[in-house]
Amino acid sequence: MTVQNRKTILAIESSCDETAAAVLRLENSGSAAGFPKIKTLSSVVKSQISLHSKMGGVVPEAAARAHVKNILPVVKKALTGACNSIFDGRQKLSCKNGEDVLSQIDYIAVTAGPGLIPSLIVGVEFAKALSLATGKPVIPVNHLSGHLYSPFGRLTAKSYKLKANFFPMISLIVSGGHTILVLMEDIKHYKVLGQTVDDAAGEAFDKVAKLLGLPYPGGPQIGKLAAKGNPAAINFPRPMINSKDYNFSFAGLKTAVLYYLRDNPPTAKSYKLKTNVCASFQQAVVDVLAAKTLRAANEFKARSISLSGGVSANLALRKSLNLKSKTFNLKFFAPPLSLTGDNAEIIGMAAAFMLFNGYKPKSYKAVKADPNLEL
Ligand code: KG4
Ligand code: ZN
Repeated sequence: MTVQNRKTILAIESSCDETAAAVLRLENSGSAAGFPKIKTLSSVVKSQISLHSKMGGVVPEAAARAHVKNILPVVKKALTGACNSIFDGRQKLSCKNGEDVLSQIDYIAVTAGPGLIPSLIVGVEFAKALSLATGKPVIPVNHLSGHLYSPFGRLTAKSYKLKANFFPMISLIVSGGHTILVLMEDIKHYKVLGQTVDDAAGEAFDKVAKLLGLPYPGGPQIGKLAAKGNPAAINFPRPMINSKDYNFSFAGLKTAVLYYLRDNPPTAKSYKLKTNVCASFQQAVVDVLAAKTLRAANEFKARSISLSGGVSANLALRKSLNLKSKTFNLKFFAPPLSLTGDNAEIIGMAAAFMLFNGYKPKSYKAVKADPNLEL
């Protein structure tokens, strides 16, 4: 393999409340089991959680302002962080200057949507300006395909071999804005089987956390309290668990929690009540997600299941899908915890898969932020 065969990608993510940049390398050869070989050289995430937790949720205008402030230092940090790997010791550089690395970048990948438009615009326009200045092409990436491909970007050749023959695959994407069930026919072709008709799974976690007075983002807080509670304590509804389609609904479940808390108001001392509410609510979400994913796997004769998105950090969900996959002799893929939430590494991975699948980047002029971009 020659050095020229490698493609280096600078990836930028700003769709919601994380300003992130990463540098990845796509090796042009040595792919295993028909998958691209990707190496992450650097990844930087500047979270805005402290800003938004004061407000109880993401405030788009505030998020956009923070992106504007953070994007240049974040991109520079990712570039300098990749310097040593990029130059392979071939050149002696101080690696303090991001511009040295910029000259080695082949593509600029950026999240084009879906997301909050004021946030998206910052990353997209930054990437376009960088493209204009450097002549490097821009790859607009669908944020959801970043999640979709996130379980595969860091797999080693050995694990590819172990898990070979994994298509068709049923992929469950669960994030703050989306709950989507996807049928992946192969590495390039996929179709959406169903999605939420109201709240996304992550949104339901965040709203229930708010009802319990827990800080934003509520998903991880609920997960922690749930681990101490009894998942069978309260029989919350499992909306649409038996519906024939592959759609989801979580608004009713959230309302059921609201009514339960109205009838059983927690006090400062009712730690047990809170842990039981969290565990029982979480179990209801996990049951619905797992049942529909398994039903789709059965219907489409899947060989494997994959899980991704912010809510895939939820240990009960990971455990349930992993166990059920084993029971039905399906392979199971999930990203490492560091790649479950929003970051630029997964955007770079999706761009690498696009290039690997033959995508030809167009001029930056054709690239636009689209808040409603569909998978
Ligand atoms: O993918 P992501 O970072 O952003 C979007 O694309 O929306 O997902 C964020 C969502 C939030 O709703 C957050 O509460 C949820 O993922 N989340 C979790 C956990 N960690 C993050 N939900 C349940 N359990 C967790 N451990
Ligand atoms: Zn996301």
